[in-house]
This record gives sequence, C-alpha cells and structure tokens, in this order.
Amino acid sequence: MPHPYVLLSAAVSLDGYLDDTGPERLLLSSPADFDRVDEVRASVDAILIGAGTIRADNPRLLVNSPGRRAARTAAGRPEYPLKVTVSGSGDLDPAARFWHTGGEKVLYTTDKGAERARALGLATGVVPLGADIDWRRLLTHLHDDRGVRRLMVEGGGLIHTQLLTQGLADELQLVLAPLFVGDPEAPRLFGPGGYQSGRLRLLETRRIEDVVLMRYEPTAPGTGSLPTAADHHWLALACELAAQCPPSDTAFSVGAVVVAADGTELARGHSREGGDPLVHAEEAALAKTDPADPRLAGATVYSSLEPCARRASRPAPCARLILDAGVRRVVTAWREPDTFVAGADGSGLLAAGGVRVLVLPEHEERAKAPNRHLPH
Ligand SMILES: NC(=O)c1ccc[n+]([C@@H]2O[C@H](COP(=O)([O-])OP(=O)(O)OC[C@H]3O[C@@H](n4cnc5c(N)ncnc54)[C@H](OP(=O)(O)O)[C@@H]3O)[C@@H](O)[C@H]2O)c1
Repeated sequence: MPHPYVLLSAAVSLDGYLDDTGPERLLLSSPADFDRVDEVRASVDAILIGAGTIRADNPRLLVNSPGRRAARTAAGRPEYPLKVTVSGSGDLDPAARFWHTGGEKVLYTTDKGAERARALGLATGVVPLGADIDWRRLLTHLHDDRGVRRLMVEGGGLIHTQLLTQGLADELQLVLAPLFVGDPEAPRLFGPGGYQSGRLRLLETRRIEDVVLMRYEPTAPGTGSLPTAADHHWLALACELAAQCPPSDTAFSVGAVVVAADGTELARGHSREGGDPLVHAEEAALAKTDPADPRLAGATVYSSLEPCARRASRPAPCARLILDAGVRRVVTAWREPDTFVAGADGSGLLAAGGVRVLVLPEHEERAKAPNRHLPH
C-alpha cells in the first residue's frame, strides 16, 4: 500500500542525545537552523511527533513564517500542515498547546487509548488502530484518508527508532549541535534495535552557523514481502536507468540494479548497454558481478520490468540468470506485457525457483515511460 515520503528530522548533541533531563527543552539548533526547520515544515503535508514529546516539550509545531503560510494557502494548501501524534495510552493533557494551535490534528492510538482520549475530551480527530499501533497501517491511513504525500517526523527517539528499524524512513535530516549532554538518563536519538547492517547514503552536508545538517538515505533492501523505503529508492533508480537505454522498436527499455543485503550496490545495467543490441538489463548487471561473490545469495535484484522468462536472442532468459546467480529476492515495477512474447511469466519462473518477487505498482508509470512507443 502506498505510504507518504517519510522524513525524520532531529537535532542531536555531539554525544547522541535529543534533550537533557531538565524541565525546559534543551535548545540544540541555532536560530538559522530553526528557520530551516520552519521551511521544511512549510513544505510538507503533515508533521508527526510522539506523545512523549508533547509531554516533555509541550510544542506548538507551527509554520512560524507568515510568508511561508501565505505561500501554502496561495498554492491551495491548508495554512498549516496536519499535526499528527501517536500514543498507545491516549493519556495526553487536553490543555497541551499541540491541540490548540495551528490547523487540523489527528491522534493515532490503540482501541483502549481511543477510549481514554475521548474521555479526556482531546480536541482532535482520533483514529484507533486496534490493540497495537502498526506503523504501516498508520502511514497507509495518512496517505489514503488524509492525502499526506510528505510527512515530516520530529521525534522523539522512540518514534525515530521504530520508523528507521522497520525500514519506513525515506530520509534522515540530522543536525549535529556542538554541545554535550553526558547524562545517561537523557533521551537518545536512536535506541537499541535491528538497524540495517551497512552504511546509509550521504545525500548532503550543510554548515548552518555552528551546527551541521546531514541528510542520509537508508540503503538496505527489505528482507520479506513488505517493501521498505530503500526498496522504493532502488527501484526508482532502475526506472531511471531504463530511461537511459538506446531506443529500440523491437525490445523493451529496462534498467536493473543488484544490491547486497547491507545496502551495497553490486552492479547496475540497462538494455542494449555498451553497444550490444541484444543485452538485457539484468543480464548486463549480473555480468558485472563475481559469480563467487557470497553476497549474491542475500542480494535483491531491482528491475524496472519483470525479468524475462523466454527469449530467442540468448540461450538463458534473465529469470534463469537470476536463479543461477543464487539471488533470492526480486523487486519490479511492471509485469511483462504480451508485446514480444505471449504469456511471459518471469515472476512465476522465479517463484518456482524459490525467489520472492515483489511488484511495486507505484513505479509502473515510470517503468513504462521509455517504452510508450512500443505496440500495446
Ligand atoms: N532534539 C530534537 O530534535 C527533539 C525532537 C523531538 C523530541 N525531542 C526530545 O525527545 C524526548 C521525547 O522522546 P521519547 O522517545 O521519550 O518520546 P516520543 O518518541 O516523542 O513518544 C513516545 C510515545 O509515543 C507513543 N508511541 C510511540 N510508538 C508507539 C507504538 N508503537 N505503540 C504505541 N505507542 C507508541 C507512546 O505514547 P504513550 O506513552 O502515550 O503510550 C510513547 O510513550 C523529549 O525529551 C524531547 O525533548 C527532541
């Protein structure tokens, strides 16, 4: 199910804390960075914080710049982004500033929490999600029912940790502040959990007065049948590669990327790469890997079009090459139509060989774009 783009935003001390244990909120950012945060807030459809942050900081969570609010309304958007909070208990202060400032609000909670929240008379929409809070369900609800396409998450640590370890964060925007907290009782940015094993991708660093903004993107493929944010990023790259193929009237334009379990890119390829009129994207990418590389067994192949099951031009179709390489997970945007081969079922061939195949239809239009000139 589609989710919003999820952007985690936090300021952190040099020793990894989000706050101290004092009664007042610790100001980690610089004035210019608070203004940058205001700009990011103005760009999103919704801002989410956990109940712990409402209790600790009593924030308003507003877009403060009148000019940015005016630009939102001029563009037909609400003056303020939707404010979202998450609480299992529903036990929140009805007088908190969160409820009485800005635009619309929504509380995601458990069935029991919803009873408590309604009894307290919280000034908000309440969405019960069952006995527990399932983050995928919450994100799908925000996307489908509230029209949220970009979600900014402003903490705290429990929220950031869950979204990152569950593979649901598209981007991290961290500001490193030049001070120490040094109190083990203070809240940390990230708690213990099953994080991706490899390195995240650095997208940007920016000096803002005496703090540094770092933007990172998670890279590790998912492991099961549920796609992660990184799966979407890699498949989007495969679609970009498809757009680079030399045009053809007799074959599809396809892009492919092979990614190890820790998020390391092993190889990429596209149709008709290197002047070879017959080579397929997955074939071109796999040819660049070492067949003895043990990482292939845990790798995911991203292909803008389902790997082929039959082909006349070469002895082995791409589904067979993937099986022979030992890869056990494939993510694709588009099932192969009958344009050149009737009843092609690369996914079926892969599944019969023990490969898990995910089709992410959110990318289908981009995968089709370089193939629009082909019949059907
Ligand atoms: N430096 C920064 O950028 C920044 C930003 C934000 C916050 N902070 C700091 O972070 C601290 C608060 O962080 P925190 O980790 O304690 O709290 P938090 O992440 O804001 O909120 C945690 C609360 O959210 C609810 N919750 C989260 N996940 C849930 C789930 N899966 N199921 C049910 N309920 C769930 C629970 O509420 P219930 O207890 O109601 O069940 C939980 O106690 C504060 O000190 C604040 O100043 C710093």
